[in-house]
Amino acid sequence: MKILGIETSCDETAAAVVEDGKRLLSNVVLSSMDLHAAYGGVVPEIAARSHIESIIPVIEKALADAFSLENGGKRLEVRDNSPNSNLSTPSSTSDPWDQIDGIAVTYGAGLGGSLLVGVMTARTLAITKNKPLYAVNHVESHIYANFLTETSPSLSTSYQLPTTNPKFPMLGLIVSGGHSQIVLWRDHFDYTLLGQTRDDAIGEAFDKVAKIIGLPYPGGPSISEYAKKGDPHKFKFPKAKVNSVSPALEKLRNEMQATSTLRHNSNGRSFASGRTGVAQGAGYDYSFSGVKTAVLRAAQELIGEDHHFPSHKLSERLSDTQKADIAASFQRIAVETVVDKLVEAFDEFQPKSVVIGGGVAANTELRRQLADRLPLPIEYTDMKLCTDNGAMIATLGCYKVALNQPAADPFTLDIAPNLSM
Ligand code: KG4
Ligand code: ZN
Repeated sequence: MKILGIETSCDETAAAVVEDGKRLLSNVVLSSMDLHAAYGGVVPEIAARSHIESIIPVIEKALADAFSLENGGKRLEVRDNSPNSNLSTPSSTSDPWDQIDGIAVTYGAGLGGSLLVGVMTARTLAITKNKPLYAVNHVESHIYANFLTETSPSLSTSYQLPTTNPKFPMLGLIVSGGHSQIVLWRDHFDYTLLGQTRDDAIGEAFDKVAKIIGLPYPGGPSISEYAKKGDPHKFKFPKAKVNSVSPALEKLRNEMQATSTLRHNSNGRSFASGRTGVAQGAGYDYSFSGVKTAVLRAAQELIGEDHHFPSHKLSERLSDTQKADIAASFQRIAVETVVDKLVEAFDEFQPKSVVIGGGVAANTELRRQLADRLPLPIEYTDMKLCTDNGAMIATLGCYKVALNQPAADPFTLDIAPNLSM
């Protein structure tokens, strides 16, 4: 089963073909990042316009790459490989669409104008090519990049993939420019949001801190590059304490309590082996607005100015060493903030696997801290599959088909910019 995945929720126009939810056949990502860099963040109108220009060529290339075509993917010549045929003579033509079993598209969360381009394109293709359409939650799909374990031979040197599938119960950390969530999956399509950021997403915090100290957008990669030269303990930035427990988490705990009592009484095994060292009632929400302000104040103090000093003038007065120390100290605390919560959730729910997804999952300090603090090895997906791409959309689409999830109506599917998990 081969699914075409289409992703346009932010600034990447992306399409990919995935087979059976595990084999990557093609992955085309065209970013409009260069057009936004001058503004220090994604400009929604520019992103949407860029999607309009790129979406068809990107889809055609994804189909062409997947099926080794050379003519932009509209029609291809198929050679007859039977023993009696003349291999050099094309014997028939075929349409790559014949090989596609369905279309999966991001319908939320994301920028309205950007989502519209992907969804309207997918709807049109589903109708004209007569393919089932699957609506995919972008945030959920980031985790599904971890289910890709194989590639076609032509991509084998380009992607480093996990060797095995994650197992359930699976604890997922989604860390991107728009999202910071900790989610527990009992099975595909059966999950509970354990906690999330109360304000900025972690990637957004990287981007904002980079702006304060004058590093280029996107801030994540530039902070992590500068951090290599800095002292991560130079500044003691605060870690916010948020202890609220969401109704979903409370419900899950009650269910687990009931199940474990029931199973204990009948000598069965419980879903989780119980809480070890987690304060009763602890929640998994966190926050990044405090550390962001702390960075601003530290930078103002470093140059001998008070809190009235405008942030956009700070970077020209900070030395390279000061910027590197701020970058390293911020990165350490930001990563610790999410890793602390993930480790607590691991202790409480004892999952069989831990996976991470989203742009910040490419961060090496995050990978280092997780490897240090989790008692189970994590297999990371390729850095190229951490940031937005069509492969994660197609992979989740494959599971929707395989597990009989309802298809979307191509005549009515709407975007959901504020979609949550
Ligand atoms: O998942 P993504 O491509 O888009 C969203 O869905 O938001 O994530 C983009 C975010 C940006 O905030 C970017 O700064 C961050 O991921 N990012 C990183 C790294 N690479 C990208 N953050 C920290 N370290 C990195 N190496
Ligand atoms: Zn994303």
